Amino acid sequence: MSIVDLAALGESFTRDPYSVYARLRAQGPVHRIRMPEGGAEAWLVVGYEAGRAALADPRLSKDWGRASPSLPLGSVSSGYHMLRADPPDHTRLRRLVARQFTPRRVEELAPWVQKMTDELLDRMLAAPDGRADLVEALSFPLPISVICELLGVPDLDRSSFREWSNDALGATDPAERAAAADAMARYLAELVDRKRGRPGDDLMSALIHGPDDDGDRLSHGELLGMAWLLLVAGHETTVNLVSNGVLALLTHPAQLAALRADLTLIDAAVEEMLRYDGPVETPTYRFTTEPVTIGDTVVPGGGELVLVAMADANRDPARFASPERFDISRDARGHVAFGHGIHYCLGAPLARLEARIAIRTLLERCPELALDIHPAAITWRPGMMIRGPRSLPVRFAGQGGAAGAARTG
Ligand code: HEM
Repeated sequence: MSIVDLAALGESFTRDPYSVYARLRAQGPVHRIRMPEGGAEAWLVVGYEAGRAALADPRLSKDWGRASPSLPLGSVSSGYHMLRADPPDHTRLRRLVARQFTPRRVEELAPWVQKMTDELLDRMLAAPDGRADLVEALSFPLPISVICELLGVPDLDRSSFREWSNDALGATDPAERAAAADAMARYLAELVDRKRGRPGDDLMSALIHGPDDDGDRLSHGELLGMAWLLLVAGHETTVNLVSNGVLALLTHPAQLAALRADLTLIDAAVEEMLRYDGPVETPTYRFTTEPVTIGDTVVPGGGELVLVAMADANRDPARFASPERFDISRDARGHVAFGHGIHYCLGAPLARLEARIAIRTLLERCPELALDIHPAAITWRPGMMIRGPRSLPVRFAGQGGAAGAARTG
């Protein structure tokens, strides 16, 4: 099978991966590709049915120990956690976290997410020129504050925490990234020690001190891996759900007007945002443990890298009618933006809660919200894993401040 060199497509692929995936889908469900990041070769699965099947296929391992040694993969120092584990380890790690990360804990965060959103919008709306970068003003700071709340990071430490996570995940200089990741790892280790002595009512404390009827608990190393996972999985993604969602609304005026006319449509609108332009383009790496037949192709065993184009699954006309249309009135359920199978996103209820509150409040407080850049001039984050704009310039020349003052006051 010949190699499709996605690296050679450069910026145009980052801007619009959808049309490239759709062309590949027309030829079959799996393709040999060269990835833009690092130039590694991989197998790319496209389409809804094949993509969903691959996400749930036990022959595709999440354990990096199964990766072929010939793969030139750099690993972000994120420790060992459930997203890198196969059963039975995965089952145990997920159960221990899931029994503390309950729907009730998520619901209890709602008033706090609202308050945080109001404060961020107060600050944004105070800009005298009526302009802001929505990523910097809202999409980025909201999820990181929520993670701080979940992990029980004290107020005083939050600005350093934000800086390290920003650099550890986003700095372009590898040395800077490694230094920030080190600082973050040291901080998290201290935080776990502190919470052992003085528990709070946060998730981290519950994981350290929670009931252990079956005598099982996360070890110190597993707690650190979990904290890293929440940081990376819960942060990078939610930022882009808010940004991509608002961008979709601002570039589809009829949909924006329909949502403004009836804000109770927000739940359905967020599902359509997840389907239409979700934050995860291809999820985390999977490695073959034995040969896997997809369509007419046999993907060899021995740790070959397999990527699933979830972004394409969500735009497959065999599953969603007129998939290129952003339509908040459609039934978008069944999308795979949160994955599928045993690794289905554990934070999906929290991500939905954050996006609904953030986007609804933004619309309420900014009646004149508009894009302050031509959509074609937006620059996108590089790589095939996470999809989102680096910045999203907006204008909001309205009287939104008064509504916010009434709510928070
Ligand atoms: C819009 C926001 C989000 C999206 C689109 C998203 C998407 C995903 C996807 C696609 C996976 C599966 C990856 C794979 O199979 O390779 C996943 C797993 C996971 N996500 Fe999320 N996520 C979001 C927000 C969050 C949040 C807010 C949290 C927690 C604070 C979170 C925690 C997790 C965890 C712990 C896993 C691993 C589950 C497992 O391995 O069993 N995510 N997420």
